[in-house]
Amino acid sequence: MLTKKIAVLFSGSGSNLEAILKKVHNQIFNGVKIEVCLCICNKPGAFGIERAKKFGLETLVIESAKFKNREEFDAVLVEQILKSGADLTVLAGFMRILTPVFTAQIKAINLHPSILPLFKGAHAIKESFESDMMIGGVSVHYVSEELDGGKLIAQRAFEREDGMSLDEWEAKIHAIEHEILPESIIKILTKEVNV
Ligand code: GRF
Repeated sequence: MLTKKIAVLFSGSGSNLEAILKKVHNQIFNGVKIEVCLCICNKPGAFGIERAKKFGLETLVIESAKFKNREEFDAVLVEQILKSGADLTVLAGFMRILTPVFTAQIKAINLHPSILPLFKGAHAIKESFESDMMIGGVSVHYVSEELDGGKLIAQRAFEREDGMSLDEWEAKIHAIEHEILPESIIKILTKEVNV
């Protein structure tokens, strides 16, 4: 059986990590077994670390705040990911800007809570909610040197309902994220092309 390995990087709650562990980890799709071989978090105490434990996975904590600069932090990430043998790296709520040290060496995908190229950056949920747009949504894209700028893999939108609150808007986004990210991983790793 062909096994494909993924590394998952996160910074906080880890609900998307949990969606991956529930829907993808150690499961077979089209004759391909997908396994989460490495979890990395840059914030000690992040709730995602507990979520990973429930699935029997230890998280490697690499504290970004302790590094002199982004490049040095990225070099350690790269080293660990290459060592793990991951075929694909998944940024699931990993709140770091990555440098070419990372982007040139690691094939990675990122989840972003808006319909890109609209609302790039760390405040996409609030900014899209406060805009005049009648739809919100989620994007999954390849990671490139440009923040939230690599080639799109999948997007899914929803319609704004009358009187929708920010909490409802955010809940809609998270529900879509928990579907679209696992689906994208499966799509990429079961395709007859090299990732
Ligand atoms: C998600 O909304 C993701 O799009 C954004 O950060 C959030 C992470 O949520 N980049 P979680 O940690 O997976 O619960």
